[in-house]
Amino acid sequence: MSLPRQPEDRVGLLISFEGVDGSGKTTQARRLAEVLRQAGRPVVLTREPGGTPLGEQFRRILLQPPPPPAASLTPRAELFLYLADRAQHWQEVVEPALQSRQVVISDRFIDSTLAYQGVARGFGIETLIEVHQKLGLLRWPDCTILLDVDPRLGLQRKRRQAQAAGPAAPLAEWSRFEREDAAFHQAVAEGYRRLADMFPGRIVVVPADADPDTVFQRVQAALRQKFPWLLP
Ligand code: TYD
Repeated sequence: MSLPRQPEDRVGLLISFEGVDGSGKTTQARRLAEVLRQAGRPVVLTREPGGTPLGEQFRRILLQPPPPPAASLTPRAELFLYLADRAQHWQEVVEPALQSRQVVISDRFIDSTLAYQGVARGFGIETLIEVHQKLGLLRWPDCTILLDVDPRLGLQRKRRQAQAAGPAAPLAEWSRFEREDAAFHQAVAEGYRRLADMFPGRIVVVPADADPDTVFQRVQAALRQKFPWLLP
C-alpha cells in the first residue's frame, strides 16, 4: 500500500513514547514501527538508554549496577550517564535518520530525564531543560505519546514479566529503577503529569490501563489527529 509522502518541507519525524515503568511503551513503539513499515515508510525504532553500541553499555551500567560492595551510582553520575547516552544517540542515530527523512520512534527520550531525574531525583524540570540547552542537546520530539497508567499497575506488570523471564534472563527485567520505592514511582508519574501540562501541544496523554490492542487503537487515533498523512 502506498501512502502520501510527508509534507516536503520537513526533515523526518521524531515520535517518542513515555510513561512509568511497565506502562507498555516498548510494545506500543514496536507496533507503531510495524504498521508504518508495512505501509512502506522508512522507520528507525530505537530506545534510550541504549540505541547505539556505546549506549547499550551505558544502559547496562544504569540498569544493572554491580552488586555490593560496589557503591551505587550517585544521582549526579546517573544524570550524566543519561545525558551521555542522549548525546551519543542523537548524533549517531536520531539526527542522521531525521536528515534522511525517516520516522524515528524512540522508546523514551528527553521527557524521561525530566520526569525521573528532574522530578523524582529532584534536579528540577527547568534546570534540566536549561542543562540540555546549554549543552546543545535540547531537541523536542515532534510528538510524545505518554502512556498513562497508575505506577502500581505498571510495577505489577513488570513483576509478572520478571517472573516469566526467570532468574537466568540476561539483564533481568527487574532493574534498579523498579526496585525504587512507591514514592519514587509516584513522583515520576507526577513529573509526567507536569510535563503534559507544560507541553500540551506536543505531549498526548493516552490512557494505557487497557489491553495492548485497545491502547494501540488509541495511539493510532492520537497520531492520526496530529499527522493525518502518517498512518494508513
Ligand atoms: P526501560 O527498560 O527503558 O524502561 P521500561 O522498563 O519502562 O521499558 O528502562 C529504562 C529505565 O531508565 C527506566 O526505569 C527509566 C529510566 N530512565 C531515566 O531515569 N532517565 C532517562 O533519561 C531515561 C531515558 C530512562
